[in-house]
Amino acid sequence: MTTPLVAFRDIHVTFAGRVHALAGIDLSIAEGEIVGLVGESGSGKTTLCKVLTAMVRATSGTIEVAGEPLAARIKRDRLGFRRSTQMLLQDAVASLSPRMRVRALIEEPLTIHGLNAAEGKARIEVLRQRLGLPAEALDKYPHQISGGQARRVAILRALILAPQLIVADEPTAGLDVSVQGELLNLLLDLHAEFALTYLIVSHNLAVVRRITQRTVVMYLGRIVEAAPTAALFAAPRHPYTAALLSTHPSVDPAKRRERIVLQGEIPSVIDRPSGCHFHTRCPHVQPRCRVDDPPLVTETSGRQVRCHFPLTAA
Ligand SMILES: Nc1ncnc2c1ncn2[C@@H]1O[C@H](COP(=O)(O)OP(=O)(O)OP(=O)(O)O)[C@@H](O)[C@H]1O
Ligand code: SF4
Ligand SMILES: [Mg+2]
Repeated sequence: MTTPLVAFRDIHVTFAGRVHALAGIDLSIAEGEIVGLVGESGSGKTTLCKVLTAMVRATSGTIEVAGEPLAARIKRDRLGFRRSTQMLLQDAVASLSPRMRVRALIEEPLTIHGLNAAEGKARIEVLRQRLGLPAEALDKYPHQISGGQARRVAILRALILAPQLIVADEPTAGLDVSVQGELLNLLLDLHAEFALTYLIVSHNLAVVRRITQRTVVMYLGRIVEAAPTAALFAAPRHPYTAALLSTHPSVDPAKRRERIVLQGEIPSVIDRPSGCHFHTRCPHVQPRCRVDDPPLVTETSGRQVRCHFPLTAA
């Protein structure tokens, strides 16, 4: 087996000594893979992204990047790591300094990383055209350009450093549907062109379905299901995935699922339910689920499911 680009093993993150935001994440991402991360608000998606980009330190567990422990990788070559792993934030405009013109914002990473200015400028021009950013946009301030253009600027700032991995937290949130579509096409084209690996967080299941190869579903800081995207959308095995996907409009009316409304509140990560952490809301709960915490099991198909009684295709 080839070494994955990223491997999380039993990663835990606890904030303020009691907020158990990640409670044992095991996840590998292969080079070139496009992975989607979904789950309700507070399930730990952003925390996972931040651990991966070294913005948050894991409380316990190990992370390897191309076979090397993350801490060692950073110690060996901090700037190199920062270059290779780029995070695209949800609010692209807010992530750009308001007092700098777009051109300066784009050149800034080159200066920070001590890259050749002449080469950098040539690369900016190639990428600007590739991303469909008008030349005039470079002379404007972030608040003077559109939301779609601001995302393109953020992507350009990331690509200028020739990264390996792009971690995108809600890359299309707040954009018009048509702009979303353009941006997704762009991300897909860039993936192939620049041999990128993507981890994409989105509440928009249509986005995840359209561009990811594998989907990872989180609940209360743990992975409850992970499978190739087409297989997961065709037949979810975990009851939480089924409920989540039931909110997703199916294109084929014959396959339209009945909407599964989950009962009860999302439990707190400070005070987790006993047994299966989903049992307080699961429509399929059995007595065993209240006492016995199911492990994440890898099935022969490669799908991973954390449930004592996985669903079978109807
Ligand atoms: N710096 C922090 N200090 C304390 N608690 C935090 C911190 N960051 C996140 N949390 C808590 O950790 C949990 C996971 O948060 P996280 O932001 O990772 O969720 P998320 O899945 O990204 O949610 P959303 O879909 O709303 O973006 C939440 O309970 C959140 O309140
Ligand atoms: S283990 Fe039980 S409670 Fe948990 S998801 Fe499966 S059926 Fe539901
Ligand atoms: Mg988030």
